[in-house]
Amino acid sequence: MLSSLSYSLMAEQDLNEVLSIEKEVFPHPWTRDFFRLIIQDASNYILTLKQGKNIIGYGGYHLLKNKTNFLYTKKIYTRFIHLINIAIRVPFQKHGFGTGLLSLLMNNAKTRNAEYCYLEVRPSNTKAFRFYRNYGFSVIGIIENYYPQDKENAIVMGMELASLIET
Ligand SMILES: CC(C)(COP(=O)(O)OP(=O)(O)OC[C@H]1O[C@@H](n2cnc3c(N)ncnc32)[C@H](O)[C@@H]1OP(=O)(O)O)[C@@H](O)C(=O)NCCC(=O)NCCS
Repeated sequence: MLSSLSYSLMAEQDLNEVLSIEKEVFPHPWTRDFFRLIIQDASNYILTLKQGKNIIGYGGYHLLKNKTNFLYTKKIYTRFIHLINIAIRVPFQKHGFGTGLLSLLMNNAKTRNAEYCYLEVRPSNTKAFRFYRNYGFSVIGIIENYYPQDKENAIVMGMELASLIET
């Protein structure tokens, strides 16, 4: 299914479509200004996924080079990524596009010698939680009141990039 698709770095001209997906899938959509900041930050790698000329999803990560110890892994990482967002337009969900996009991001991070990926997900977002767990992420913690708009906790999930199967 991914063979008919293309992907590219998110750019200013993508933002109208990206914002329309953002409103479609998230209760508290990010703003145009926030996306502008994200795509201008050289430590971020943000992709749009297109079918023909239409954007059907997007996602990205932030590369960190801080020495970090995620206690449960008993390892020290010096390069790792924070998955900051991933979304697929509703009619295209459940067809493997999210998995394909996540694989592109994770494999790109691996080529930049990142060792680990972590992310946050709302406990109420069972679809996304299952998506990440199905991909290979494990629960590594809880952050209380992480989402200020509705005081929801975040589940923190993580995954070693060494465990990725090359695609
Ligand atoms: C989470 C999201 C990106 C997944 O994208 P997707 O293209 O639908 O996912 P895939 O088709 O690759 O599904 C992969 C796996 O995720 C899980 N999954 C995906 N959608 C699911 C659903 N509706 N219910 C239960 N499990 C689901 C399943 O385990 C699925 O594997 P399977 O099809 O073999 O059962 C998509 O649902 C989305 O955009 N959601 C709204 C935005 C969002 O919540 N993003 C995450 C923020 S933390």
